[in-house]
Amino acid sequence: MKSPPPSLESRFLRACARRDVDAVPVWFMRQAGRYLPGYRALRTRHSILDIAKTPELACEATLEPIRKFALDAAIIFADILLPLEAMGLRLSFVPAPRIERPIRRPSDLKRLASRPAGESLAFVGEAIRLARRELDGKVPLIGFAGAPFTLASYMIEGGPSRDFLLTKAFLRENPGAWTNLMERIVRVTLSYLRMQAASGAQAIQIFDSWAGALSPEDYRAGVLPATKRLFSGLKGLGVPLIYFGSGASGFLEDFASAGAGVIGIDWRIDIGEAFRRLPGKAVQGNLDPALLLAPRPVLKKAALRILRQASGRRGFIFNLGHGILPQTPPDNVRALAEWVHQYGRQGSGGGG
Ligand code: CP3
Repeated sequence: MKSPPPSLESRFLRACARRDVDAVPVWFMRQAGRYLPGYRALRTRHSILDIAKTPELACEATLEPIRKFALDAAIIFADILLPLEAMGLRLSFVPAPRIERPIRRPSDLKRLASRPAGESLAFVGEAIRLARRELDGKVPLIGFAGAPFTLASYMIEGGPSRDFLLTKAFLRENPGAWTNLMERIVRVTLSYLRMQAASGAQAIQIFDSWAGALSPEDYRAGVLPATKRLFSGLKGLGVPLIYFGSGASGFLEDFASAGAGVIGIDWRIDIGEAFRRLPGKAVQGNLDPALLLAPRPVLKKAALRILRQASGRRGFIFNLGHGILPQTPPDNVRALAEWVHQYGRQGSGGGG
């Protein structure tokens, strides 16, 4: 793909590349979701899987926050768990995700399909094409997938988990089968994301939402090698790569060594410290999503604190430290995006 002239390039993509921006770019993880009236109305008629698998509906869900708020990027409506179906597992949302017959012992790996996921998930590619057409260059569109560890945790636990006991036991007691599982996830995810990029995704985010459940040593030994292979396979796509993790600040340098140019952090670390520990990286984050439920002055003060710590840094993308909560008042989302643009003007010198 030809790159657009700099004047037309979005501030989100420029910040990913650590280039100067006219204002700090902002988008929110889970910006298309249940806090929005249009999405809730859609959900009274369709299940989340129906929305994700019907390109027109997925496109509509993707665009609702872009129409309402001054956001600098759209993220395609899908779910990190969709590739599990392509791998042969049965998935439902009740509303929490549930995986039938999870992977509990090494012999269960035999049940996993090894066909490339790009084809069976073609509906995501079609949604991306539709959304790109509708966005018409207004803001870039982000594609995404789950990280190997976070996906493996759902495949093993069978749903959300607090302690990840089964996942940790699998990793420690069956290192060979664990490596095999990680490699299979990497293969499927690569084919899925190549398809997303070919369909028009202009950046890719990898969600490692539960990486913070691990000790630094378990992360380095059991997760980092496969995650590095994933990112090295994505490099050739020529789009910015974002690696988001929650609870990963105890091993932030290892996390960042996986290979993404943009590191997404949660609120458990000051963003100024994250910038200091991540030389050469762009940083995305990191407002506690609970603050979007706080009184306006409290929200504003917290947002300004982040902007101040990141001011003068190249490669800052304002986001939350995790997904928007369903109870969030949409007007607070509107106000927050406007404050980021208003107060997050960066000098063209931008250090860091
Ligand atoms: O960001 C966006 O707006 C794009 C859409 C998106 C969804 N899921 C739609 C969704 C994205 C990027 C995701 C990622 C995702 N899915 C993650 C990583 C981000 C994170 O929050 O950590 C994870 C862990 C999942 C798995 C998942 N999907 C869970 C645990 C749940 C249930 C919990 C919940 O939030 O309700 C889902 C369901 C889901 N995926 C919803 C949406 C809008 C809400 C369900 C509904 O509409 O009923």
